[in-house]
Amino acid sequence: MAIASITDFREAARRRLPDLFFQYIDGGSYDEATLKRNVADFSGITLRQRVMRDVSNLSTQIELLGRTWSMPVGLGPIGFTGMFAHRGEVQAARAALAAGAPFCLSTLSICDVEEVTQKSGAPIWFQLYMIRDRAFMSDLIDRLKIQKCPVLVFTVDLPVTGARYRDMRNGVSAPPSLPVMLSRAWQGVSHPAWLWDVRLTGGPLVFGNLTAAVKSRALGKFSTWIAENFDPTVTWKDIAWVRERWNGPIVIKGILDPDDAREALAAGADGIVVSNHGGRQLDGALSTIAALPRVVEAVEGRAPVLLDGGIRSGLDVLRALALGAQACLLGRAWAFALAAQGEAGVTQALSIIRAELAVAMALTGCTDVRQAGRDLLA
Ligand code: FNR
Repeated sequence: MAIASITDFREAARRRLPDLFFQYIDGGSYDEATLKRNVADFSGITLRQRVMRDVSNLSTQIELLGRTWSMPVGLGPIGFTGMFAHRGEVQAARAALAAGAPFCLSTLSICDVEEVTQKSGAPIWFQLYMIRDRAFMSDLIDRLKIQKCPVLVFTVDLPVTGARYRDMRNGVSAPPSLPVMLSRAWQGVSHPAWLWDVRLTGGPLVFGNLTAAVKSRALGKFSTWIAENFDPTVTWKDIAWVRERWNGPIVIKGILDPDDAREALAAGADGIVVSNHGGRQLDGALSTIAALPRVVEAVEGRAPVLLDGGIRSGLDVLRALALGAQACLLGRAWAFALAAQGEAGVTQALSIIRAELAVAMALTGCTDVRQAGRDLLA
């Protein structure tokens, strides 16, 4: 069946991936209430249908963090993507940059920042987690400078990891038992396209950015290192530490509360991503679209506000812009498209989102995305 929507990519990814990886992408923490709310709360936002406004010329272009982009949508950081498709981060970055959209590489990517920059042919944004070993952090920041990464996205909503039951059952976040190992082997063999594309020809399958710190090449050793090295002591003071080493824009990702938005700005943030990590951290937290208006109010136009969480269509993007976001980041939407069809899948996902955004603009009488605001809301 042809792909018409982002939801179709989810089903295509489910068929293509070993179940363990599909569940890793699809799942959230605890009862997944926030994950569901992220998506459901969008449909509660009603737009004004406007007519007779000459919508033959529509502009989706925006300026954001020093560049013009073709649309107010980028690819947010997703860890492990090289396990979903052959050198997955490279394929996704190519698709994003060709579409004129920003790509943000996760600290926990399979391909390292050097490989993705070189093979995609343009600088990429980089997402950083605070790691206890500050010498390692310093070295990593130096590597980002060498690769001319224009924007640092600092994720603040993961001082500890939320309990993700699906991953625990599949042995992703705990050492796997023998039955889990056997089940994994079977899942690989029964998904031969993935097995060939990723497991047999897609290596090295390590967390590329971390190889300097982790001596073993076994993925399990990386997971142990991450558990031991993510820094739960992190506070706003640590942003100053990063700032001493990084001159470019710092975007703080993982803000849901207006007080935290004010603190982020006081700490020198050049942008904010309203995010709850796609419902993978504090279950019971507000959906991002519900949290957005108060964060926008607190920011008072002093820095761009981006939003992620639950974006499944171009219509959702317009709703977020109407409530004050300057741009949105995709998460699962692009991860599923990549898993389903590699670079071509991500290209198609972005073009679906863009076409849907343009139609939504036309039907609300909004011809320039930069002017999308509360007057679009019913
Ligand atoms: C994430 N997210 C994430 N965020 C981050 O800052 N660093 C990371 O390495 C990851 N890894 C990651 C893996 C997977 C599988 C998912 C689903 C999410 C969070 C991500 O950037 C984003 O905040 C959410 O995915 C947005 O929600 P939706 O669009 O997926 O609903």
